[in-house]
Amino acid sequence: AGRCVIALDGPSGSGKSTVSRRLADALGARYLDTGAMYRAVTWAVLRSDVDPQDADSVAKVAAELDLEIGTDPHVARVRVDDTPVETDIRGPEVTAAVSAVSAVPAVRKLMVARQREIIAAAGWIVVEGRDIAAVVAPDAELKVYLTASADARARRRSAEYATDVDATAADLARRDRLDSTRAADPLRQSVDAVELDTTEMGIDEVVAYLRQLVATKV
Ligand code: C5P
Repeated sequence: AGRCVIALDGPSGSGKSTVSRRLADALGARYLDTGAMYRAVTWAVLRSDVDPQDADSVAKVAAELDLEIGTDPHVARVRVDDTPVETDIRGPEVTAAVSAVSAVPAVRKLMVARQREIIAAAGWIVVEGRDIAAVVAPDAELKVYLTASADARARRRSAEYATDVDATAADLARRDRLDSTRAADPLRQSVDAVELDTTEMGIDEVVAYLRQLVATKV
């Protein structure tokens, strides 16, 4: 098929990013990290000295921002006003503020519009986030909801970022709570998504399973 959209949603630390990039690579597809977009807006908010809780000012920063996001699964490319921010957006300051910024409806509206444009211009694309199946690409060919136990998620994240496991667990719990209780497009499993609990699975196993699923859809 000339076009195939694969939506991968799930909470932080479920393995979404690694799995999505690997799956895109295996399929020769593009890859869109929507979390990186919300993180980039958050980076701009903090740079402008705007309070992340001040929704009106946050919306204004988002509207005026020149955001560039790459879709190559091998090369992370995120730029704000021509400044590369790939590293900074993974830092503790952005991570602490991103849930507040992504809860602002005007920010979501702008990002969802951009995401739909990128998806429309791509042929095959793996898109990861929280609201992809429900909001961004409801007509995706395959919708997957990745989960893992809170323990497993905290262990993976702390290994990836070299942070303390307990602090990481607390941060994940806080973000999950904020992301799933916000009014605008909360994290939620779509009824038509395939749920995959990766607690006891290795990356290769998850990717192989998803490739099989894709094969049944196209
Ligand atoms: O996936 P990642 O952890 O990088 O996402 C960072 C934050 O961006 C999430 O905690 C969530 O607040 C927000 N997000 C979102 N909708 C998406 C992707 C991410 O609200 N589609």
